Amino acid sequence: MRKALITGITGQDGAYLAKFLVSKGYKVYGGYRRSSTRNFWRLHYLDVKKDIELIPLDLLDQTSIMSAIKYCEPDEIYNLAAQSFVGVSFDEAIATGEISGLGVTRILDSIRFINPKIKFYQASTSEMFGNAPQPQSEKTPFEPASPYAAAKLYGHWVNKNYREGYNMFTCSGILFNHESPIRGIEFVTKKITDGVARIKMGYNKELLLGNLEAKRDWGFAGDYVEAMWAMLQNDTPDDYVVATGESHSVREFCEEAFAVVGLDYKNYVKTDKRFFRPVDVNYLLGDPTKIKTTIGWGPKTSFKDLVKMMVLADVEKYENPMTHSQQFLKHI
Ligand code: NAP
Ligand code: GDD
Repeated sequence: MRKALITGITGQDGAYLAKFLVSKGYKVYGGYRRSSTRNFWRLHYLDVKKDIELIPLDLLDQTSIMSAIKYCEPDEIYNLAAQSFVGVSFDEAIATGEISGLGVTRILDSIRFINPKIKFYQASTSEMFGNAPQPQSEKTPFEPASPYAAAKLYGHWVNKNYREGYNMFTCSGILFNHESPIRGIEFVTKKITDGVARIKMGYNKELLLGNLEAKRDWGFAGDYVEAMWAMLQNDTPDDYVVATGESHSVREFCEEAFAVVGLDYKNYVKTDKRFFRPVDVNYLLGDPTKIKTTIGWGPKTSFKDLVKMMVLADVEKYENPMTHSQQFLKHI
């Protein structure tokens, strides 16, 4: 049985990847950091917690990484852990650098000294392109526009250095934005779909956002974790852009999301300067040609279906709170 260790198991992608690898017959270990409140709700939501083994692992602590790897003896490691919110990276730039940047080197060195044959996936990001010209591909020069993007770019380069310098099997997926019903509430898509549901229920009267003109290439997280796995199954390690090749503005996302429940976003969405960033990335549009032609991966979920899936999940959450919480309570 093949074994995989996923860091960041409590996050959106960690839950989807765990579900996918379990379906492929892997023994899955999920690395989590200790917190005062249990934080496994996404694993309950996808009903995968019972199928995986949880193991303490903090990217700030080299020893915890080394002991997790020694204990699991994985064939593959997926590094999904990060301080992943761009907005907060302006307030916590040093912590972001320690976790999302240096954390990658801590894992790579652990692999190098314990078992350099372990295959490694690094969660790189389209944020590394910043405001570079569209469409962005593997050949586009990077222009990171936030402490988060700068930290991720460091991790991206060091991953390539270890591939070339130590002949290790390391891949980076340069993933464009991907969302789902279990997306963190601070990200704009989830903030919108949750806001739509709250307005529909009569709990809120308006939704306050920042830059409505920013454009993103939004896909579905469930599709994107399959690309992560596919990269590690290829004969040679490499870096790949993972995207849909279609971009929409935050305004368009609002229009589509409010329309799902028969409302006009113009009556509810307002801007508030608190939600604008010191520097923003205005327009991300990925070119996924390389991963399509070399690995055969492509997205299965359309923008329209993604928005609908998220809105309906949030409406259901407020309409049937008991069903929702019982689903979690069953597993605690
Ligand atoms: P997420 O929901 O924010 O999850 C991040 C995970 O990292 C959480 O499990 C978090 O644990 C964990 N983490 C944070 N600090 C840690 C530390 N010091 N040690 C160990 N774990 C730590 O992010 P996501 O959307 O699943 O994204 C997964 C990865 O892909 C991230 O690296 C992100 O930067 C990258 N990425 C995401 C996207 C996207 O659109 N989603 C696009 C490109 C790249 P807690 O639950 O304890 O906070
Ligand atoms: N979060 C948030 N909240 N963003 C807003 C808001 C708001 O109220 N109003 C407008 N926006 C704009 C942001 O300024 C940004 O231009 C865009 O919406 C998307 O913001 P986020 O959803 O926070 O995502 P992100 O693109 O900054 O970062 C996400 O995608 C990256 C890949 O490109 C994160 O998942 C990163 O971890 C990931 O690397």
